[in-house]
Amino acid sequence: MSGLAGKNIVLGVTGSIAAYKAVQLASTLSHRGAHVHTVMTAAARGFVSPLNFQALTRQAVHSDVGEVDREGRIAHVDRGRAADLMIVAPATANTIARLAMGLADDIVTATWLSTTAPRLVAPAMESSMYLAGSTQANLRTLADHGAGIIAPGTGRLASGHSGVGRLADVDAIIDRIGETLGLGGDLAGRQIVVTAGGTREAIDPVRFIGNPSSGRQGIALARAARDRGANVALIVGAIAVAPPTGMEVIEAASAAAMKAAVEQATAGCDALVMAAAVGDYTPAAAAGQKIKKTGDGLSLELTPTDDILAGLSGGFIKVGFAAETENLLENARAKLAAKSLDAIVANDVAASGLGFGSGMNRVQIIRRDGPITEAGPAPKRAIAEKVMDVVVELLGGSQQ
Ligand code: CTP
Repeated sequence: MSGLAGKNIVLGVTGSIAAYKAVQLASTLSHRGAHVHTVMTAAARGFVSPLNFQALTRQAVHSDVGEVDREGRIAHVDRGRAADLMIVAPATANTIARLAMGLADDIVTATWLSTTAPRLVAPAMESSMYLAGSTQANLRTLADHGAGIIAPGTGRLASGHSGVGRLADVDAIIDRIGETLGLGGDLAGRQIVVTAGGTREAIDPVRFIGNPSSGRQGIALARAARDRGANVALIVGAIAVAPPTGMEVIEAASAAAMKAAVEQATAGCDALVMAAAVGDYTPAAAAGQKIKKTGDGLSLELTPTDDILAGLSGGFIKVGFAAETENLLENARAKLAAKSLDAIVANDVAASGLGFGSGMNRVQIIRRDGPITEAGPAPKRAIAEKVMDVVVELLGGSQQ
């Protein structure tokens, strides 16, 4: 298992206008099952109330370095010791300087110094302050001390100017937290290739044959593998959501492009999970110019595409998906055999509110050697964890 559930995350909040985004971060982390322990500087309290964090995380919020609870525990030492990870978000130039120097005269810097857990820092400030030589040197010092730096984004800043210095997106921060917590997980040292999304076969320069795959399930699989320590290559066709960070993302629009990308990425890999909806047919010849409307009917000659999974010679675990609208198990088992897979994830795409385009899914994971795991209806993230459980089993457990 992996993920954020049950993890103790210390969230250090400092005095930046972006402090309100830390509320969103705390909320999402809590919603995903993490125990979020917030520590705030006095300047942060000027931007957002400790009550916001307390109510959303259902944990006491500490803002005084001298705080001792009724059992005599010192807040910063106690929080630091219990942490699975500490993140300072947003981190001001001032706090970054103080962290780099090893000062410990407020609750955020003292907890940072106390913990031996992995540490992340997400800077947020005006461009000029971020790009200042001293800030960059301090960030390098923190990186040298083993901290991960979550690079700020570019956009409109508090001053009204545009530039680099915006706190990274909450989703990107959560991706980085998941990735950091997963280092050393049960897929550590494994190379996993995942495909996601739908392919598009060009009819002419402005039209294509496609399918409604959003890529959500494949992307959830790639995230789950990453957050269990794997090196992930994610090959995407058309997708409706942003691909995650912390992995190699390779774009492959058509079935032919996806075949080439999969063949290249799987060389030396441990497992391939093929969640992409690959077009089975492609126009025999794409028109060079836009096809004009004539008022008459139009026939397209289609030729079959290569079956990517079936054509792979192996040497690694192969997991396919079977999108079916009827005879789910029977059809999935036939594909398992025909494509010589180790497991197939059977997916009833006719069920309403599940599968294509939705955030939820219900599947049965059928192993070639017999066992069947049922999963869902559940968020695609939870389905992805179940599939990765099976991948770990098929790989014979973790390497460590
Ligand atoms: N697949 C593939 N190459 C193709 C078509 C499909 O590798 N050209 C993979 C899919 O990524 C999936 C599995 O094969 O993992 C099954 O895909 P699916 O569309 O369910 O089945 P098909 O083999 O295309 O059969 P059909 O469309 O007749 O159900």
